[in-house]
Amino acid sequence: MNTNKSQYIVREQELINENLAGYLKRHEQKERLRLLVAGSVDDGKSTLIGRLLYDSHLIYKDHLDSIYKDSKQYNTTQNEIDLSLLTDGLKAEREQGITIDVAYRYFSTENKSFIICDAPGHEQYTRNMATGASHCEMALILIDAQNGVKPQTRRHSLIASIMGIRNIVVVINKMDTVDYKRSVFESIKNDYLSFSNKLNIDSIHFIPISALTGENVVEGSSNMDWFLGGPLLNYLESVHIQNDFNLIDFRFPVQYVLRPNSSFRGYAGTIASGIVRVGDEIVVMPSQQRTRVWSIECFDNSPGEAFASQPVVITTEDEVDISRGSLLCKPNNIPSFGNSIEAMIVWMDSNPLEIGSEYLLKSNTQLIPARVKSVRYKYDVNQLSRLDASGLCINDIGRVEIVLQRPLIFDTFRRNSLMGSFILIDRNSNATSGGGVILDQVVRREADDESALQKEEKRCPTIWLTGLSGSGKTTIGQIVVSRLKEMGVNVTLLDGDSLREGLNSNLGFSPEDRRENIRRAAEVAKLMNGAGLMVIASFISPYRSDREMASEIIGMDNFYDVYVDADVETCIKRDTKGLYAKFARGEMSGLTGMDAPYEAPENPSIRIESGNESPVQSAEKVLKFISEITGYELS
Ligand code: ADX
Repeated sequence: MNTNKSQYIVREQELINENLAGYLKRHEQKERLRLLVAGSVDDGKSTLIGRLLYDSHLIYKDHLDSIYKDSKQYNTTQNEIDLSLLTDGLKAEREQGITIDVAYRYFSTENKSFIICDAPGHEQYTRNMATGASHCEMALILIDAQNGVKPQTRRHSLIASIMGIRNIVVVINKMDTVDYKRSVFESIKNDYLSFSNKLNIDSIHFIPISALTGENVVEGSSNMDWFLGGPLLNYLESVHIQNDFNLIDFRFPVQYVLRPNSSFRGYAGTIASGIVRVGDEIVVMPSQQRTRVWSIECFDNSPGEAFASQPVVITTEDEVDISRGSLLCKPNNIPSFGNSIEAMIVWMDSNPLEIGSEYLLKSNTQLIPARVKSVRYKYDVNQLSRLDASGLCINDIGRVEIVLQRPLIFDTFRRNSLMGSFILIDRNSNATSGGGVILDQVVRREADDESALQKEEKRCPTIWLTGLSGSGKTTIGQIVVSRLKEMGVNVTLLDGDSLREGLNSNLGFSPEDRRENIRRAAEVAKLMNGAGLMVIASFISPYRSDREMASEIIGMDNFYDVYVDADVETCIKRDTKGLYAKFARGEMSGLTGMDAPYEAPENPSIRIESGNESPVQSAEKVLKFISEITGYELS
C-alpha cells in the first residue's frame, strides 16, 4: 500500500511538472465526496482528520516540520507525530471564544477527491453543523469506544438526517484502549442501530479504528482481524453515493433578465435541477404561461442542452412575462405553489423565534415576507424526543408552519434539495435567523385550515413482501409495522405462519394449496384496506401467477410487491426455523428453494437485498417507499 502510494505521489509530481493543465483537468474529473465529520476533539476527531490528510500526503512540508517540532515539545504522543495538531486552528479559535464557522479540508486519492467538512461538535454549535451538513453527501459519526453512544452521537446523527444526508459511516475510534475487543464494537453497533431506525437514513456502515495508531484508517489492522470490512479510506474510496443532482425535474430559477439591446432578451441563472434542450416546451411559474426554448447560451458556446448546476442564459421563442424570481419548468412537471409550508428549521439567531414573528423567506431567487404561524414541536436533540414548544432558541431544531405573503414556488426537500430549502432573514438586522427544509405542502384556503387538514385522506395500500423462507420478510415486516404504528398509522402485519395457524390451517404446500393460501390472504388484505388499515403482508408466494392474482384481488393501484431477495445459501445458513436442516435430513419435501420452485419477481416495486444488509436497513427502505406512495412523513 505504501509503495503504491509513493509511486502515486511520484507520478502526480511528474504530471504536475510536465503538464499542469492536464493535471488540473484530471483532478477536476475525479469523483468527489463531501464528508461531514461529526464528533468532538475528545472522540479523536482532529487526530482522525489529521491521519487522513497525513496518510494521503497532502500536507505541506513546512507545516509538517512544525508539527513534528510541536509534537516533540509538548510530548503528547510519545515521540510520535501528534496529528491532532494539524487541525489545531479550530482549537485556538475556541479558546478565544470567537464564533466558529465550518472548516473545510481537502484531500484526494488517485480516483476520488474528498472535501471534509469539519464542524464543531458541541450543542452550542448545532447551527454550524447543520450548515455544514447541508453541503455534504455523507456523514462520518465518530464514537469513542470507551464511552459508546452518547447524546451527542444521537444529536449529530439527527442533524445529518434532517439536512438530507442519507449515508452514514459510524467510526468507532480508540479501539486500542479497549483491547480491540469485538464485543465492544458489536455492542456499540447495536446501540446505534436501536435509535437510528428513527432517522431517515439509507445506509449505515460501521468501522472499528484507532486514529492514533492508524489502524483501519488507511492501513488494515492485525489486532482487529475479526473485522472483515476493510479500512476507512478503502470504504470512502469505493462507496458509491448517488449524487444529489436531480436530473428529472427541470427547475430554472431566473436570477437576472438580460437586455443588452432591444433585439435580445435572455434569462440568466443556474439550473437547479433537471435537463433542458433547445425546442423544449416550458412553463413560466407563477404565471403558467407557456413558450419554447429558443437557445441556450453558456460562457463560450451555445449548447443544444444543459443540465443541473450549469449557469446558463436561456432565450425563449415568444415574449412572455419573465422576471427575476420567476421559475422555468416543464408542462408535465411543475413544482408546488402555495402560501403555506411545513418545514423543519434550525434556529441560528440569538433572538429567539417567536410565533407570529415576521421574516423574509429566501428560497432560490425568491424573497417573500413570511410569518411563523405555529411551532408544532422542537427536538430534544440529545434524546431524539419531541417537546412541545412555543418558540425556538438559538441551536434549536423544530418543526414549524410558515405562511407567506405571496405564494412560494417550491418542491419538498426530499424531492429536490435546492428547491426545498430556504433561509429566514431578520428584517431589521438582515442577518440569517434560521435555515429550513420544506417537508410537505399544506395548501390552505383562508379560514378553512383545520378542516382541510382533516379531510386529507391517506392511502391504505398492501405492501406484499415475497421471498424465500428465512429471507427476512417477517422480521422486516415487524420493524416496518412498529415504526408505522409509532407514526400513528393504522397498520397490521399479515403473515404466512399466523394465517396458516387459523384461517388456512387446512392448507398444505402443494401448488394448489399455496394458491388458495394466497387467494385467502389477498381477500383478507383487501377487506382490511377497505376498512382503513394498511397491510404489510409477508408470504413466500413463490408463484408469479399467484402474486398476480393477489394484485388483481387487492387492486393493482393498491398492491405493491417487495422482493426480499436473499439467496438460498444465505437462507440455509440462517435457517431460523430449522426447515432447511429438516429437509437435509430427508424429513420433509416441497421446501421452496430446494425441491419446490421460487419464481422471482421480474419487476418488483422495490427489491431488498436482505442478505447484504441488516433488517433495520431493509425496513428503512420499505418505509421510505411507503412514505413516497402515501405521503406519510417519516419521523
Ligand atoms: S406460501 O408458499 O404459501 O406463500 P407461506 O408464506 O404461507 O407460504 O408459509 C410459509 C411458512 O410455512 C414458512 O415460513 C414455514 O414456516 C412454513 N413451511 C412449512 N413447510 C413449508 C414448505 N414446504 N415450504 C415453505 N414453507 C413451509
